[in-house]
Amino acid sequence: MVAAAWFLFVGGLAVAFSAEALSFNNSASGALLSFKNSIFGDPSNLLSSWNLTTSPDNCTWYGVTCQKSSNTTRGVVVIALNLTGTSTARLSGTLPESIQNLPYLRTLVLSHNSFSGEIPAGSIAKLSFLEVLELQGNNFSGKIPQQISTDLHYLRFLNLSFNSFTGDIPATLIGFGKLRVIDLSNNRLTGEMQLVSSSKCLFLRHLKLSNNLLENNIPKDIGHCKNLRTLLLDGNILQGPIPAEIGQILELRVLDVSTNSLTQTIPKELGYCKKLSVLVLTNSNNFVGNNGGAGGSLDGFRLEFNAFEGGVPQEVAMLPSLQILWAPRANLDGRLPGNWSDSCSLRVLHLGQNSLRGVVPKGLVMCKNLTFLDLSSNFLTGDLPMQLQIPCMMYFNVSQNNISGPVPTFWKGQL
Ligand SMILES: *[C@@H]1O[C@H](CO)[C@@H](O)[C@H](O)[C@H]1NC(C)=O
Ligand SMILES: *[C@@H]1O[C@H](CO)[C@@H](O)[C@H](O)[C@H]1NC(C)=O
Ligand SMILES: *[C@@H]1O[C@H](CO)[C@@H](O)[C@H](O)[C@H]1NC(C)=O
Ligand SMILES: *[C@@H]1O[C@H](CO)[C@@H](O)[C@H](O)[C@H]1NC(C)=O
Ligand SMILES: *[C@@H]1O[C@H](CO)[C@@H](O)[C@H](O)[C@H]1NC(C)=O
Ligand SMILES: *[C@@H]1O[C@H](CO)[C@@H](O)[C@H](O)[C@H]1NC(C)=O
Ligand SMILES: *[C@@H]1O[C@H](CO)[C@@H](O)[C@H](O)[C@H]1NC(C)=O
Ligand SMILES: *[C@@H]1O[C@H](CO)[C@@H](O)[C@H](O)[C@H]1NC(C)=O
Ligand SMILES: *[C@@H]1O[C@H](CO)[C@@H](O)[C@H](O)[C@H]1NC(C)=O
Ligand SMILES: *[C@@H]1O[C@H](CO)[C@@H](O)[C@H](O)[C@H]1NC(C)=O
Ligand SMILES: *[C@@H]1O[C@H](CO)[C@@H](O)[C@H](O)[C@H]1NC(C)=O
Repeated sequence: MVAAAWFLFVGGLAVAFSAEALSFNNSASGALLSFKNSIFGDPSNLLSSWNLTTSPDNCTWYGVTCQKSSNTTRGVVVIALNLTGTSTARLSGTLPESIQNLPYLRTLVLSHNSFSGEIPAGSIAKLSFLEVLELQGNNFSGKIPQQISTDLHYLRFLNLSFNSFTGDIPATLIGFGKLRVIDLSNNRLTGEMQLVSSSKCLFLRHLKLSNNLLENNIPKDIGHCKNLRTLLLDGNILQGPIPAEIGQILELRVLDVSTNSLTQTIPKELGYCKKLSVLVLTNSNNFVGNNGGAGGSLDGFRLEFNAFEGGVPQEVAMLPSLQILWAPRANLDGRLPGNWSDSCSLRVLHLGQNSLRGVVPKGLVMCKNLTFLDLSSNFLTGDLPMQLQIPCMMYFNVSQNNISGPVPTFWKGQL
């Protein structure tokens, strides 16, 4: 009887103790201290304030931001964890599952440290209020959790660039929810760049997938993303055409598809993108090395294969906001467009090392702000338009053509 009572008493204590331990682990402090436990390198002692003995209020801990919840039963909650590293203060560690015990996080920033390992998918999925996730510049690996694009309905900013992520881009990510910015560049992502055809993709403004190993076609459905401003797909192994549907993205400012394996004609529908300012179709170096970063896309060198058919569409030359048109060694042929926009904004025009024929069009003199003109190594003929005397020309190369007559003098007095 006594023994049994003693047993009950001790048993009760044990239960009480573990319940307390459990509730502590589930608390913000417990989650943060567990996070600290998964840090194995902190050379600048950034996390020394994370100590309940010396700093009982976890809201004062380095990198932690709290806010009083509008739901009074929740009290004060941790809404942001920002541990951006610097060149002198880099944390090494992993992202533990206990991150799920900070369920009211809106911002999680671990950029520019030396975190490694995988993102704990099930735990990230529980951060249902997350708006900003920045893990760029680490050495995270494994797949990008698909839950990011199913469970995180408030996510608007995602930067996972410069890591070692592999596998496919989650099928529903591009165009998901409220995502405005997606930067997955400089990883080792493979497979197709997908877009769910039902996706309205109304929020996406910035999509950067550069320097991965993405293959197959650029999806036509990208045309749904009507609010895209920047679309950077350079440095992959994408094939097929630049889809004409890109012409539906009327907000587009910057398009870079260089260093892929694209073919076919440059779509004249680009002419609908009246705000287009930068169009990069190829890059001049035949060999592009590994571009560094924690991940980098390829360990060796690769050939650039973008080889288009036909020439520069007249519609592109008429784009009123175009400042940079960069398409060296792009396999372009035909004549240069004769008419250039009356309000030509062009500053940089590189069409060198193509197979363009005919004359240098007089229409180019509309482009008063041109400072870089490379038409070298084509089959251009005739005289240069003498009206092309542009005050601030800094680079002018029309060599290796069959151009005759005098060269306009450029006034470089102000350089
Ligand atoms: C609480 O967390 C610590 C450290 O992460 C762990 O060792 C311990 O087992 C956890 N306790 C419970 C009851 O989950
Ligand atoms: C917390 O601070 C106290 C007092 O400086 C120290 O003795 C203790 O080791 C610290 N705890 C941790 C986990 O760093
Ligand atoms: C307030 O927070 C508690 C605990 O998280 C939750 O159970 C409850 O549903 C919340 N109430 C409202 C109105 O959101
Ligand atoms: C940690 O901070 C949160 C938010 O202020 C608070 O609710 C919690 O009680 C704190 N936990 C501890 C153990 O201090
Ligand atoms: C995170 O902190 C860094 C440096 O303190 C700051 O520059 C950056 O804006 C912060 N990021 C967010 C999303 O709050
Ligand atoms: C990054 O992680 C991978 C394994 O996931 C490892 O092979 C590689 O050496 C790591 N790179 C760096 C710079 O730590
Ligand atoms: C993502 O992070 C990288 C590395 O810091 C940075 O260069 C890039 O501009 C960021 N992307 C966006 C869209 O802010
Ligand atoms: C170029 O402009 C001239 C004069 O405005 C016009 O007659 C001609 O049709 C235009 N050519 C093209 C290809 O748009
Ligand atoms: C030319 O450049 C000047 C100075 O940057 C700018 O104010 C002007 O709008 C530009 N003109 C065109 C047609 O883009
Ligand atoms: C001009 O272009 C040709 C052919 O593309 C190239 O070989 C030459 O180096 C260029 N000249 C200058 C000064 O850059
Ligand atoms: C270059 O132009 C001249 C006269 O315009 C012509 O006689 C010659 O055949 C052309 N050469 C080539 C290689 O096209």
